[in-house]
Amino acid sequence: MYYLIANWKANKSFQEANLWLSYFKKNYQPSKNVKVIICPPFPLIYPLFEKLKKISNLFLGAQDLSFYEEGSFTGEVTAKMLVGLINYVIIGHSERRTFFHETEEIIDKKVNLAFKYSIEPILCLRNLNDKINPKVNFIAYEPPFAIGSGKNEDPKKVIEFKKKLNIKKKFTFIYGGSVNEKNINNYLNSEIDGFLLGTSSLNPEEFINIFNKLKKSLK
Ligand code: PGA
Repeated sequence: MYYLIANWKANKSFQEANLWLSYFKKNYQPSKNVKVIICPPFPLIYPLFEKLKKISNLFLGAQDLSFYEEGSFTGEVTAKMLVGLINYVIIGHSERRTFFHETEEIIDKKVNLAFKYSIEPILCLRNLNDKINPKVNFIAYEPPFAIGSGKNEDPKKVIEFKKKLNIKKKFTFIYGGSVNEKNINNYLNSEIDGFLLGTSSLNPEEFINIFNKLKKSLK
């Protein structure tokens, strides 16, 4: 089983998302072996939910959520608001840690709120110093130098990182950082359970090509 996660970040208008979707829907042939998780910006979650709900092995995720549960916190989007719309949430992405000054404490609150509302958190780690909440089942290794740079991490180092985490329970290990249709084959081995794509998820054709490579590798 592979997980293929699209992180659109702060990209795509409603109209652009519709164009992406129409290509995707025409060309996506689901596989029981590859779970696709699309993480659009908040305002696009509901329209995508409506349009994708009948497609198999396809899920929605959020890119973040509030560390507040609810109340007078203008502008926040809470876990509770997302219940029923998404199954996954990316937490602790290095862009959140860097540009929005998210601390380990904030990240931990978000992870706990996700669990409270039955949303599966995908915790992003930059390096071995980042803290891991022991409840987490999905870990994404995303070395900052590799994000959006075209300089993907050496697959051997990705596996070394996983081993050094020294996590005793079974968990899902994702790699993210400049994965594209040209280099994805280098990562297809039993130690890596999935991929978090930023740039290469924005183009539906490339995204489908990557999906098809994963699908084919598991046949
Ligand atoms: P990238 O982004 O694929 O553009 O490197 C990955 C990520 O930030 O999750």
